[in-house]
Amino acid sequence: MQDNAHKRIVIAIDGYSSCGKSTFAKAIAARLGYIFIDTGAMYRAVTLYALDHGAIRSGIVCEEEVIALLDRIEITFRFNPERGASDIYVDGDLAEGRIRTIEVSNCVSRVSAIAEVRRKLVAMQQQMGRRRGVVMDGRDIGTVVFPDAELKIFMTADPAVRARRRYDELTAKGERVSLEEIERNVRERDYIDEHREISPLRRADDALLLDNSRMTVAEQMEWVTERIAERI
Ligand code: DC
Repeated sequence: MQDNAHKRIVIAIDGYSSCGKSTFAKAIAARLGYIFIDTGAMYRAVTLYALDHGAIRSGIVCEEEVIALLDRIEITFRFNPERGASDIYVDGDLAEGRIRTIEVSNCVSRVSAIAEVRRKLVAMQQQMGRRRGVVMDGRDIGTVVFPDAELKIFMTADPAVRARRRYDELTAKGERVSLEEIERNVRERDYIDEHREISPLRRADDALLLDNSRMTVAEQMEWVTERIAERI
């Protein structure tokens, strides 16, 4: 499908946590030769930085202190051919592993509810996609970051299925977590993401719904390939 005769578009993938958005977005980007941007990783990077710099203590997020850190944090991406995706760096240090711990997961929804955090990251995301040819996944891509995206997909899956997927992912990496804790975290994040005041998670009117509770990645790719073909 990588072909100069085709129009380069923006593909916005939004939805609940642990729906497999990133895996799906990465596969689409690889197929089209597009850039894949995991915006959740950017919110996680700010959260990690806030934890490292004492702006989150005992799980309590100090909003003013997080905002004060925003001018100092430097977030960059570097393509990692082994992963077929870009790794995120915070102040020049590779942060891919550290942003995915349960400690970061437990605080990230609160950090991403801060208006100044969103303003900074949304501006960065719009800049990264200005030449189009990107697949971006997050919570507000089709509604706020690229309301003019040519293809918008809203992903969802049963919370128990999503908790199981994240549990398998974390235990495979050697993290000691309980399935109950993960499911609680998934449901709590759903609630915060949907009910926050700024850019709450919601399906854009023109987004296509994809419930992948019982779909393989191959089936999802088949589903999306037709929709892409209609648009490029
Ligand atoms: O996709 P993820 O689980 O890695 O995202 C981590 C958190 O970041 C999630 O709880 C909500 C927030 N987020 C957001 O508010 N807006 C985005 N565009 C992406 C993520």
